[in-house]
Amino acid sequence: MQIEQSIVAITGAASGLGWATAQYLIGRGVRVALLDRQDDVASKAKTLGALALGLSLDVTDAEAAARTLDAVVAHWGRLDALVNCAGIGGAARTLGRQGPMALEAFNRTVQVNLVGSFNMARLAAERISRHEAGLDGERGVIIHTASIAAFEGQIGQVAYSASKGGVVAMTLPMARDLAGLGIRVMTVAPGIIETPMMQAAGDEVRAPLIAATQFPKRLGMPEEYAALVAHILENRFLNGEVIRIDAGLRMPPR
Ligand SMILES: NC(=O)c1ccc[n+]([C@@H]2O[C@H](COP(=O)([O-])OP(=O)(O)OC[C@H]3O[C@@H](n4cnc5c(N)ncnc54)[C@H](O)[C@@H]3O)[C@@H](O)[C@H]2O)c1
Repeated sequence: MQIEQSIVAITGAASGLGWATAQYLIGRGVRVALLDRQDDVASKAKTLGALALGLSLDVTDAEAAARTLDAVVAHWGRLDALVNCAGIGGAARTLGRQGPMALEAFNRTVQVNLVGSFNMARLAAERISRHEAGLDGERGVIIHTASIAAFEGQIGQVAYSASKGGVVAMTLPMARDLAGLGIRVMTVAPGIIETPMMQAAGDEVRAPLIAATQFPKRLGMPEEYAALVAHILENRFLNGEVIRIDAGLRMPPR
């Protein structure tokens, strides 16, 4: 996809990886719809200038998501790509000192991280499929954000890992479902990136993870994630695959 001139919707765009990606893409001339459940996403988007549109949305709400993506198309004329960054963390063991993990907590994590990602993808695909195809018959791209916790979840990450494992597993079948329409589907699996989600984790969680990276020995920068997203948007031969961006980190049990 020619990313200059394109229109990209980003979920979870009021913070962290989504916010960094919005800034990065706007720097490349992309028109970006920043979608987030945070109410101040519209005013935050305004600080990014005329190439940004901010709309508040809970990605688990099917009707609101359809309405919001229609509003994006009405505003910019079409939709070329979706980047799913909305997600929640949270730690709890299957059986902890307080008893079995609350089923509601497990459900909520899966709802936002997995079902929310699918909800946005299915609705975005419909809107992306409406416009004329470009080079190679390409119409657009859907990029999900999983986590390396999909592969080596730590103690307390059972819900988070299950939700991200679902995102990894749906990547190939979704790419197959949408191939006939010229829509590519990719997933990024970040290691530990310096965002509000990781800042909330505290030094006792961060320090051993930094120690376990191979090179470089630091947290990732949100801009490094954003640059990978931009590359995926541009490189038409990337499809149906998961890319880790983690400095060689393989997370230990704790
Ligand atoms: N930061 C990391 O180290 C890291 C590592 C691996 C994966 N990830 C994943 O990357 C994504 C972004 O994480 P981040 O670090 O930028 O987190 P963040 O907390 O800084 O940002 C997440 C954003 O998602 C929004 N959000 C949450 N639930 C939502 C919902 N239901 N509807 C709409 N918006 C919602 C939040 O309001 C927030 O603005 C998440 O899916 C996370 O699991 C992050």
